[in-house]
Amino acid sequence: MKGVILAGGDATRLRPLTLVTNKHLLPVYNKPLIYYGIERLVEAGIDRIMVVTSPRHVENFVGLLGSGQNFISQKDGKQIQIVYGIQNGPSGIADGLYIAKDYIGADNCALYLGDNIIEDDISEHIARFKKGALVFLKEVKDPQRFGVAEVDASGKVLGIEEKPKEPKSNLAVVGLYIYDNSVFKKMVGQPMSERGEYEITYLNNKYIEEGTLRSVHLEKEWFDAGTADSLLEAGNFMEKKARG
Ligand code: DAU
Repeated sequence: MKGVILAGGDATRLRPLTLVTNKHLLPVYNKPLIYYGIERLVEAGIDRIMVVTSPRHVENFVGLLGSGQNFISQKDGKQIQIVYGIQNGPSGIADGLYIAKDYIGADNCALYLGDNIIEDDISEHIARFKKGALVFLKEVKDPQRFGVAEVDASGKVLGIEEKPKEPKSNLAVVGLYIYDNSVFKKMVGQPMSERGEYEITYLNNKYIEEGTLRSVHLEKEWFDAGTADSLLEAGNFMEKKARG
């Protein structure tokens, strides 16, 4: 399985912090935000990763991450390989994934939103994944900020709504998606949403229609560090964790 980490977007919610710098380069306690995603994927045995970012910031990522020399593969003890994809504008998460299509080739992929921090170890889920899609859910107090899952009594996901005004549950869909290779076919004919983006929620709903989307509840902490408050909260959490 290959990894794709999205690190583009305009991050307007974090201005003026992001007027010059890319959000994913901002510090979360003692590391740049993007390190947390890379480390989580590498821990799960993924050692080929494409970082997708904007033309304006790609040089900064190359300077920080290079070819992946600071991360060691679980498989062979050598450095992982990081390559770069360019997304010209913030046209949506599905659009960002599409940029990695040729890089993914015939593989499955783990799509990680670079502003997420996931404390659960996901190794087992990645190791066991074969077909369809796997999404991760977390109970939140403010579901309106996220993709929200509607689930039946058995916990099966019936549908996902992107930032609903009246959420059908308090279960947010976390920014990590495991897809089989059919994800790229599912993008054919995908319409832009009203906010002008190719939404990841559209692709997840395609898997639901097909009956091949599974979900797992995260047990540990999860942060979407896309706002000043959540970035600070994530930093405070990491500081506490480091002190034991
Ligand atoms: O964090 C989880 C949530 O992430 C999900 O619950 C939502 O369903 C999903 O749409 C997404 O919502 P956000 O509003 O948080 O997405 P945001 O625009 O902040 O982008 C998420 C990440 O993807 C961020 O690291 C920037 C990157 N990105 C985003 C867009 C729109 C790109 O690289 N390119 C893009 O075009």
